[in-house]
Amino acid sequence: MASLSCILLLLFVSLLMCSLVACNFNQHFDITWGDGRAMILNNGELLTLSLDKASGSGFQSKNEYLFGKIDMQLKLVPGNSAGTVTAYYLSSQGPTHDEIDFEFLGNLSGDPYILHTNVFSQGKGNREQQFYVWFDPTADFHTYSILWNPQRIIFSVDGTPIREFKNSESIGVLYPKDQPMRIYSSLWNADDWATRGGLVKTDWTHAPFTASYRNFNANACVWSSGASSCSSSSNDNAWLQEELDSTSQERLQWVQKNYMIYNYCTDLKRFPQGLPPECSAA
Ligand SMILES: *[C@@H]1O[C@H](CO)[C@@H](O)[C@H](O)[C@H]1NC(C)=O
Repeated sequence: MASLSCILLLLFVSLLMCSLVACNFNQHFDITWGDGRAMILNNGELLTLSLDKASGSGFQSKNEYLFGKIDMQLKLVPGNSAGTVTAYYLSSQGPTHDEIDFEFLGNLSGDPYILHTNVFSQGKGNREQQFYVWFDPTADFHTYSILWNPQRIIFSVDGTPIREFKNSESIGVLYPKDQPMRIYSSLWNADDWATRGGLVKTDWTHAPFTASYRNFNANACVWSSGASSCSSSSNDNAWLQEELDSTSQERLQWVQKNYMIYNYCTDLKRFPQGLPPECSAA
């Protein structure tokens, strides 16, 4: 009897973690808005969000997580996507929420998307870094990952780290580590700011605009009734200690050197009284 409940528990945990098979969208996500513009297709293997002149759409995870390594494949709005924003992020709730953001700002056909990132701790963000990517993010699916453990947050694209935000609590910087977060995504119109301050307007003759999602995978600690449960296998939990090895450090530097187009940590105009303390942390 004990062993049966143990097996059931393991099965339950592995379903929560989706470490064995790619997670099913029906099982792990709810469509939250968009009135039919968001769809789960192919028996839960594919999710699409659409935006037209009337509305965008969005979804969120059923689970809340406290730390995790979360992968999602996205194929962004193709063609003239200027003015559209596809946001894919983790967030807790309330005015002092934590948040870890990927945002994809569309562009005119042939012009590059901007991959925008930010980290909020207890309601405070202002930590933007922006990148171009080294491929056409609309031609095919690519994997966007967030590793969030107690020591660091690492944003990766197809396994290449693009940004690391370290826990700098030792020098007084708040770090997201106490508030469980859900996964959210939405597709919406932001042509008032996303296109270099509203320079280019959304061309609604190209609507509906559609972004697609597949192969969600989470190795994460699921939050439930005030407690966090991680997988019981230490192998599965290696991400809780994960850091960048020297090869990954080099790739991160390659991206930052060649593809980073904005870094709050070098924006002295914006922070005349001094750059945020985490910027000088080793
Ligand atoms: C769009 O393309 C222009 C021209 O290449 C570029 O300056 C801009 O950063 C791109 N992204 C957005 C969101 O405007």
